[in-house]
Amino acid sequence: MAGELPFDKDSGNENTLQSIRYSRGRLQLLDQRKLPHESVYIDIHDSTAGWHAIQDMVVRGAPAIAISAALSLAVEVINLGSVDWKVDDAIAFLQKRLEYLVSSRPTAVNLSDAAKKLDDVVLKASTQASSPESIFQVYIEAAEKMLIDDVNSNKAIGLHGAKFILHQTNKSHNLNVLTHCNTGSLATAGYGTALGVIRALHSEGLLETAFCTETRPFNQGSRLTAYELVHDHIPAVLIADSAAAALQKSGRVDAIVVGADRIAANGDTANKIGTYNLALSAFHHHIPFYIAAPLTSVDLSISTGEQIIIEERSPKELTHALGGQGQQVAPSGISVWNPAFDITPANLISAIITEKGIITKKDQSSVFDIKGFIENVS
Ligand code: MRU
Repeated sequence: MAGELPFDKDSGNENTLQSIRYSRGRLQLLDQRKLPHESVYIDIHDSTAGWHAIQDMVVRGAPAIAISAALSLAVEVINLGSVDWKVDDAIAFLQKRLEYLVSSRPTAVNLSDAAKKLDDVVLKASTQASSPESIFQVYIEAAEKMLIDDVNSNKAIGLHGAKFILHQTNKSHNLNVLTHCNTGSLATAGYGTALGVIRALHSEGLLETAFCTETRPFNQGSRLTAYELVHDHIPAVLIADSAAAALQKSGRVDAIVVGADRIAANGDTANKIGTYNLALSAFHHHIPFYIAAPLTSVDLSISTGEQIIIEERSPKELTHALGGQGQQVAPSGISVWNPAFDITPANLISAIITEKGIITKKDQSSVFDIKGFIENVS
Protein backbone atom coordinates (compact mmCIF):
# COMPACT_ATOMS: atom_id res chain seq x y z
CA MET A 1 0.00 0.00 0.00
CA ALA A 2 1.33 3.45 -0.93
CA GLY A 3 1.24 6.93 0.53
CA GLU A 4 1.17 8.47 3.98
CA LEU A 5 -0.40 6.55 6.83
CA PRO A 6 -1.83 8.09 9.97
CA PHE A 7 0.79 8.31 12.66
CA ASP A 8 0.71 5.36 15.03
CA LYS A 9 0.86 6.83 18.53
CA ASP A 10 1.85 3.44 19.98
CA SER A 11 5.37 3.81 18.67
CA GLY A 12 5.92 7.10 20.44
CA ASN A 13 8.02 9.01 17.96
CA GLU A 14 6.02 11.99 16.85
CA ASN A 15 8.78 14.07 15.29
CA THR A 16 10.97 11.71 13.38
CA LEU A 17 10.70 9.44 10.40
CA GLN A 18 9.54 5.93 11.16
CA SER A 19 10.84 2.82 9.48
CA ILE A 20 8.71 0.58 11.71
CA ARG A 21 5.01 1.20 12.32
CA TYR A 22 3.49 -1.14 14.80
CA SER A 23 0.30 -1.51 16.75
CA ARG A 24 -0.68 -4.86 18.25
CA GLY A 25 -1.41 -7.24 15.39
CA ARG A 26 -0.22 -4.90 12.66
CA LEU A 27 3.34 -4.31 11.41
CA GLN A 28 4.27 -2.03 8.55
CA LEU A 29 7.77 -1.39 7.29
CA LEU A 30 8.74 1.66 5.29
CA ASP A 31 10.21 0.43 2.01
CA GLN A 32 13.60 2.17 2.28
CA ARG A 33 14.55 1.12 -1.26
CA LYS A 34 12.06 3.67 -2.55
CA LEU A 35 13.31 6.63 -0.50
CA PRO A 36 13.70 9.54 -0.89
CA HIS A 37 11.16 9.67 -3.71
CA GLU A 38 8.30 7.64 -2.34
CA SER A 39 7.04 6.87 1.15
CA VAL A 40 5.55 3.41 0.82
CA TYR A 41 4.77 1.11 3.74
CA ILE A 42 4.56 -2.65 3.30
CA ASP A 43 2.30 -4.76 5.52
CA ILE A 44 4.19 -7.61 7.15
CA HIS A 45 1.92 -10.44 8.26
CA ASP A 46 4.40 -13.08 9.35
CA SER A 47 8.04 -14.02 9.86
CA THR A 48 8.45 -15.17 6.25
CA ALA A 49 7.54 -11.68 5.05
CA GLY A 50 9.81 -10.28 7.80
CA TRP A 51 12.73 -12.43 6.59
CA HIS A 52 12.31 -11.23 3.00
CA ALA A 53 11.94 -7.58 4.03
CA ILE A 54 15.29 -7.82 5.85
CA GLN A 55 17.10 -9.79 3.16
CA ASP A 56 15.81 -7.50 0.37
CA MET A 57 16.71 -4.27 2.27
CA VAL A 58 13.14 -3.01 2.71
CA VAL A 59 14.35 -2.47 6.26
CA ARG A 60 18.03 -2.27 7.16
CA GLY A 61 20.25 -0.97 9.96
CA ALA A 62 21.22 -3.29 12.82
CA PRO A 63 18.62 -2.30 15.46
CA ALA A 64 15.77 -1.92 12.92
CA ILE A 65 16.48 -5.38 11.51
CA ALA A 66 16.33 -6.98 14.97
CA ILE A 67 13.10 -5.24 16.00
CA SER A 68 11.36 -5.85 12.67
CA ALA A 69 12.22 -9.54 12.86
CA ALA A 70 10.92 -9.82 16.42
CA LEU A 71 7.69 -7.98 15.58
CA SER A 72 7.09 -9.94 12.38
CA LEU A 73 6.88 -13.08 14.50
CA ALA A 74 4.68 -11.26 17.04
CA VAL A 75 2.10 -10.43 14.36
CA GLU A 76 2.33 -13.97 13.06
CA VAL A 77 1.40 -15.49 16.41
CA ILE A 78 -1.35 -12.89 16.95
CA ASN A 79 -2.80 -13.82 13.57
CA LEU A 80 -2.62 -17.55 14.42
CA GLY A 81 -5.46 -17.02 16.89
CA SER A 82 -6.13 -19.98 19.14
CA VAL A 83 -4.29 -23.18 18.28
CA ASP A 84 -4.72 -26.79 19.25
CA TRP A 85 -1.12 -27.10 20.47
CA LYS A 86 0.72 -28.05 23.62
CA VAL A 87 2.93 -25.46 25.37
CA ASP A 88 6.02 -27.29 24.05
CA ASP A 89 4.71 -27.04 20.47
CA ALA A 90 4.34 -23.27 20.85
CA ILE A 91 7.89 -22.98 22.19
CA ALA A 92 9.29 -25.14 19.39
CA PHE A 93 7.41 -23.03 16.82
CA LEU A 94 8.80 -19.76 18.20
CA GLN A 95 12.34 -21.16 18.40
CA LYS A 96 12.24 -22.43 14.82
CA ARG A 97 10.92 -19.14 13.46
CA LEU A 98 13.51 -17.13 15.41
CA GLU A 99 16.30 -19.32 14.05
CA TYR A 100 14.95 -18.76 10.55
CA LEU A 101 14.79 -14.97 11.04
CA VAL A 102 18.40 -14.88 12.26
CA SER A 103 19.47 -16.43 8.93
CA SER A 104 18.26 -13.37 6.95
CA ARG A 105 21.47 -11.31 7.35
CA PRO A 106 24.58 -12.54 9.16
CA THR A 107 26.69 -9.56 10.28
CA ALA A 108 24.60 -7.43 12.64
CA VAL A 109 24.57 -9.12 16.05
CA ASN A 110 21.46 -7.22 17.20
CA LEU A 111 19.29 -9.75 15.36
CA SER A 112 20.75 -12.86 17.00
CA ASP A 113 20.93 -11.02 20.32
CA ALA A 114 17.20 -10.21 20.11
CA ALA A 115 16.38 -13.80 19.12
CA LYS A 116 18.41 -15.17 22.05
CA LYS A 117 16.73 -12.80 24.53
CA LEU A 118 13.26 -13.68 23.22
CA ASP A 119 14.11 -17.37 23.37
CA ASP A 120 15.24 -16.97 27.01
CA VAL A 121 12.05 -15.09 27.96
CA VAL A 122 9.86 -17.78 26.41
CA LEU A 123 11.78 -20.64 28.04
CA LYS A 124 11.58 -18.94 31.42
CA ALA A 125 7.83 -18.47 31.06
CA SER A 126 7.32 -22.08 29.96
CA THR A 127 7.70 -23.41 33.51
CA GLN A 128 4.50 -21.65 34.53
CA ALA A 129 2.60 -21.44 31.24
CA SER A 130 -0.66 -23.32 31.01
CA SER A 131 -1.43 -22.75 27.32
CA PRO A 132 0.28 -21.88 24.02
CA GLU A 133 -1.62 -18.57 24.08
CA SER A 134 0.06 -17.58 27.35
CA ILE A 135 3.49 -18.35 25.83
CA PHE A 136 2.61 -16.28 22.77
CA GLN A 137 1.48 -13.43 25.02
CA VAL A 138 4.86 -13.41 26.79
CA TYR A 139 6.62 -13.41 23.43
CA ILE A 140 4.48 -10.56 22.04
CA GLU A 141 5.06 -8.34 25.08
CA ALA A 142 8.82 -8.95 25.03
CA ALA A 143 9.02 -8.14 21.28
CA GLU A 144 6.97 -4.96 21.75
CA LYS A 145 9.24 -3.88 24.60
CA MET A 146 12.22 -4.02 22.24
CA LEU A 147 10.63 -1.32 20.08
CA ILE A 148 10.20 1.01 23.06
CA ASP A 149 13.58 0.26 24.64
CA ASP A 150 15.46 1.01 21.42
CA VAL A 151 14.19 4.61 21.19
CA ASN A 152 15.06 5.24 24.84
CA SER A 153 18.51 3.79 24.46
CA ASN A 154 19.17 5.85 21.32
CA LYS A 155 18.23 9.07 23.11
CA ALA A 156 20.66 8.17 25.88
CA ILE A 157 23.40 7.47 23.28
CA GLY A 158 22.68 10.89 21.75
CA LEU A 159 23.03 12.74 25.04
CA HIS A 160 26.14 10.86 26.22
CA GLY A 161 27.74 11.29 22.80
CA ALA A 162 27.01 15.01 22.43
CA LYS A 163 28.38 15.75 25.90
CA PHE A 164 31.48 13.62 25.38
CA ILE A 165 32.35 14.96 21.92
CA LEU A 166 31.98 18.53 23.13
CA HIS A 167 34.26 17.79 26.06
CA GLN A 168 36.87 16.12 23.82
CA THR A 169 37.17 18.94 21.29
CA ASN A 170 38.56 22.37 22.05
CA LYS A 171 35.42 24.02 20.75
CA SER A 172 32.35 25.15 22.69
CA HIS A 173 30.07 25.26 19.63
CA ASN A 174 30.07 25.03 15.80
CA LEU A 175 31.09 21.40 15.73
CA ASN A 176 31.50 19.71 12.35
CA VAL A 177 30.83 16.00 12.38
CA LEU A 178 31.23 13.44 9.62
CA THR A 179 29.13 10.27 9.52
CA HIS A 180 28.75 7.24 7.25
CA CYS A 181 25.86 5.05 6.11
CA ASN A 182 22.49 5.57 7.80
CA THR A 183 22.17 5.20 11.55
CA GLY A 184 19.14 7.40 12.14
CA SER A 185 15.43 6.93 12.69
CA LEU A 186 15.30 4.76 9.59
CA ALA A 187 17.94 2.34 10.89
CA THR A 188 16.45 2.02 14.38
CA ALA A 189 13.09 2.23 16.15
CA GLY A 190 13.61 6.01 16.25
CA TYR A 191 16.10 8.85 16.86
CA GLY A 192 19.18 6.87 15.80
CA THR A 193 22.62 6.03 17.16
CA ALA A 194 25.45 7.94 15.41
CA LEU A 195 22.83 10.16 13.79
CA GLY A 196 21.22 10.42 17.23
CA VAL A 197 24.48 11.97 18.50
CA ILE A 198 24.38 14.45 15.61
CA ARG A 199 20.69 15.12 16.36
CA ALA A 200 21.53 15.79 20.03
CA LEU A 201 24.42 18.14 19.10
CA HIS A 202 22.06 20.01 16.80
CA SER A 203 19.27 20.33 19.35
CA GLU A 204 21.79 21.68 21.90
CA GLY A 205 22.84 24.33 19.37
CA LEU A 206 26.36 22.89 19.16
CA LEU A 207 26.43 21.64 15.58
CA GLU A 208 27.64 23.64 12.62
CA THR A 209 27.50 20.98 9.91
CA ALA A 210 26.83 17.28 9.59
CA PHE A 211 28.77 15.79 6.69
CA CYS A 212 27.35 12.55 5.34
CA THR A 213 28.92 10.21 2.82
CA GLU A 214 27.01 8.75 -0.11
CA THR A 215 27.83 5.24 1.16
CA ARG A 216 28.22 3.31 -2.06
CA PRO A 217 27.08 0.98 -3.38
CA PHE A 218 23.63 1.04 -1.76
CA ASN A 219 23.67 4.79 -1.08
CA GLN A 220 22.27 4.66 2.44
CA GLY A 221 24.00 8.03 2.99
CA SER A 222 22.73 9.96 -0.04
CA ARG A 223 19.26 8.41 -0.05
CA LEU A 224 18.53 7.93 3.67
CA THR A 225 20.83 10.00 5.89
CA ALA A 226 20.60 13.04 3.61
CA TYR A 227 16.81 12.59 3.64
CA GLU A 228 16.68 12.47 7.44
CA LEU A 229 18.96 15.50 7.80
CA VAL A 230 16.88 17.56 5.38
CA HIS A 231 13.64 16.33 6.97
CA ASP A 232 14.86 17.39 10.42
CA HIS A 233 16.37 20.71 9.24
CA ILE A 234 19.86 19.79 10.39
CA PRO A 235 22.53 21.72 8.43
CA ALA A 236 24.23 19.09 6.31
CA VAL A 237 26.57 18.52 3.39
CA LEU A 238 26.65 15.36 1.28
CA ILE A 239 30.04 14.15 0.04
CA ALA A 240 31.20 11.33 -2.21
CA ASP A 241 32.83 8.52 -0.24
CA SER A 242 36.04 9.26 -2.11
CA ALA A 243 36.02 12.89 -0.87
CA ALA A 244 36.24 11.91 2.80
CA ALA A 245 40.06 11.99 3.13
CA ALA A 246 40.28 15.35 1.36
CA LEU A 247 37.56 16.76 3.62
CA GLN A 248 39.47 15.62 6.70
CA LYS A 249 42.69 17.11 5.37
CA SER A 250 40.92 20.44 4.80
CA GLY A 251 40.45 20.79 8.57
CA ARG A 252 36.67 20.94 8.34
CA VAL A 253 35.94 17.84 10.47
CA ASP A 254 36.08 17.93 14.29
CA ALA A 255 34.92 14.37 14.85
CA ILE A 256 33.70 11.30 13.00
CA VAL A 257 30.86 9.25 14.46
CA VAL A 258 29.49 6.06 12.91
CA GLY A 259 27.30 3.16 13.98
CA ALA A 260 28.06 -0.53 14.40
CA ASP A 261 26.72 -3.88 13.31
CA ARG A 262 28.82 -5.99 15.67
CA ILE A 263 31.44 -5.00 18.23
CA ALA A 264 33.86 -7.68 19.45
CA ALA A 265 34.95 -7.86 23.11
CA ASN A 266 38.14 -5.90 22.32
CA GLY A 267 36.24 -3.13 20.48
CA ASP A 268 36.97 -4.18 16.88
CA THR A 269 33.86 -3.04 15.03
CA ALA A 270 31.98 -4.27 11.97
CA ASN A 271 30.11 -1.49 10.22
CA LYS A 272 29.16 -0.44 6.70
CA ILE A 273 31.85 -0.95 4.07
CA GLY A 274 34.02 2.16 3.96
CA THR A 275 34.06 2.70 7.72
CA TYR A 276 37.60 1.31 7.90
CA ASN A 277 38.78 3.79 5.22
CA LEU A 278 37.33 6.66 7.28
CA ALA A 279 39.01 5.43 10.46
CA LEU A 280 42.42 5.08 8.76
CA SER A 281 42.16 8.54 7.35
CA ALA A 282 40.95 9.97 10.70
CA PHE A 283 43.98 8.41 12.41
CA HIS A 284 46.30 10.04 9.88
CA HIS A 285 44.65 13.45 10.34
CA HIS A 286 44.38 13.20 14.17
CA ILE A 287 40.60 13.40 14.08
CA PRO A 288 38.73 11.52 16.83
CA PHE A 289 36.80 8.53 15.50
CA TYR A 290 33.79 7.34 17.53
CA ILE A 291 31.46 4.37 17.35
CA ALA A 292 27.93 5.05 18.65
CA ALA A 293 25.92 1.90 19.32
CA PRO A 294 23.63 0.26 21.87
CA LEU A 295 25.08 -2.53 24.00
CA THR A 296 22.93 -4.92 21.95
CA SER A 297 25.55 -4.40 19.21
CA VAL A 298 28.28 -5.90 21.41
CA ASP A 299 29.16 -9.57 20.95
CA LEU A 300 31.21 -10.70 23.94
CA SER A 301 31.39 -14.23 22.53
CA ILE A 302 34.06 -13.11 20.08
CA SER A 303 37.35 -11.69 21.28
CA THR A 304 38.32 -9.86 18.08
CA GLY A 305 36.79 -8.68 14.82
CA GLU A 306 38.48 -11.48 12.88
CA GLN A 307 35.68 -13.79 13.98
CA ILE A 308 32.94 -11.63 12.45
CA ILE A 309 31.23 -13.02 9.35
CA ILE A 310 31.01 -10.34 6.68
CA GLU A 311 27.94 -10.48 4.47
CA GLU A 312 28.66 -10.36 0.73
CA ARG A 313 25.82 -8.95 -1.32
CA SER A 314 24.76 -9.25 -4.94
CA PRO A 315 27.20 -8.06 -7.66
CA LYS A 316 24.21 -6.20 -9.11
CA GLU A 317 24.59 -3.54 -6.38
CA LEU A 318 27.81 -2.51 -8.18
CA THR A 319 27.15 -3.36 -11.79
CA HIS A 320 23.86 -1.47 -11.87
CA ALA A 321 23.04 2.10 -10.83
CA LEU A 322 21.12 2.93 -7.65
CA GLY A 323 22.59 0.03 -5.68
CA GLY A 324 21.30 -2.53 -8.17
CA GLN A 325 17.89 -0.98 -8.79
CA GLY A 326 18.81 1.07 -11.87
CA GLN A 327 20.42 0.65 -15.29
CA GLN A 328 23.47 -1.51 -15.87
CA VAL A 329 26.62 0.63 -15.66
CA ALA A 330 29.44 -1.95 -15.65
CA PRO A 331 30.12 -4.32 -18.51
CA SER A 332 28.60 -7.80 -18.37
CA GLY A 333 31.25 -10.37 -17.52
CA ILE A 334 33.16 -8.28 -14.94
CA SER A 335 33.79 -10.07 -11.62
CA VAL A 336 32.66 -8.25 -8.49
CA TRP A 337 33.59 -8.30 -4.78
CA ASN A 338 30.84 -6.66 -2.77
CA PRO A 339 31.29 -6.97 1.01
CA ALA A 340 28.52 -5.08 2.83
CA PHE A 341 30.67 -4.39 5.91
CA ASP A 342 34.27 -4.04 7.02
CA ILE A 343 36.06 -4.31 10.35
CA THR A 344 37.64 -1.28 11.96
CA PRO A 345 40.30 -2.38 14.46
CA ALA A 346 39.97 -1.07 18.01
CA ASN A 347 43.28 0.80 17.81
CA LEU A 348 41.71 3.21 15.29
CA ILE A 349 38.66 3.87 17.48
CA SER A 350 38.85 6.72 20.01
CA ALA A 351 35.83 5.72 22.11
CA ILE A 352 32.57 3.79 21.96
CA ILE A 353 29.42 5.73 22.85
CA THR A 354 26.67 3.57 24.40
CA GLU A 355 23.39 4.15 26.20
CA LYS A 356 25.17 3.39 29.49
CA GLY A 357 28.01 5.85 28.91
CA ILE A 358 31.32 6.06 27.09
CA ILE A 359 33.75 3.16 26.77
CA THR A 360 37.33 4.41 26.65
CA LYS A 361 40.66 2.61 26.60
CA LYS A 362 42.52 2.17 29.88
CA ASP A 363 46.20 2.61 30.63
CA GLN A 364 47.50 3.27 27.11
CA SER A 365 45.86 0.07 25.89
CA SER A 366 45.14 -0.15 22.17
CA VAL A 367 41.92 -2.12 22.78
CA PHE A 368 38.76 -1.77 24.88
CA ASP A 369 37.67 -3.86 27.86
CA ILE A 370 33.99 -4.00 26.97
CA LYS A 371 33.22 -6.88 29.32
CA GLY A 372 34.63 -4.86 32.22
CA PHE A 373 32.56 -1.83 31.21
CA ILE A 374 29.34 -3.85 31.04
CA GLU A 375 30.00 -5.45 34.45
CA ASN A 376 30.56 -2.00 35.92
CA VAL A 377 27.38 -0.42 34.57
CA SER A 378 24.98 -3.31 35.19
O1 MRU B 1 23.51 -2.74 5.16
P1 MRU B 1 22.85 -1.85 6.17
O2 MRU B 1 22.19 -0.65 5.59
O3 MRU B 1 21.93 -2.64 7.10
O4 MRU B 1 24.06 -1.34 7.06
C1 MRU B 1 23.81 -0.46 8.11
C2 MRU B 1 25.01 -0.04 8.88
O5 MRU B 1 26.12 -0.46 8.61
C3 MRU B 1 24.79 0.84 10.08
O6 MRU B 1 25.87 1.70 10.26
C4 MRU B 1 24.63 -0.04 11.32
O7 MRU B 1 23.72 -1.07 11.08
C5 MRU B 1 24.19 0.75 12.49
S1 MRU B 1 22.52 1.32 12.35
C6 MRU B 1 22.13 2.14 13.78
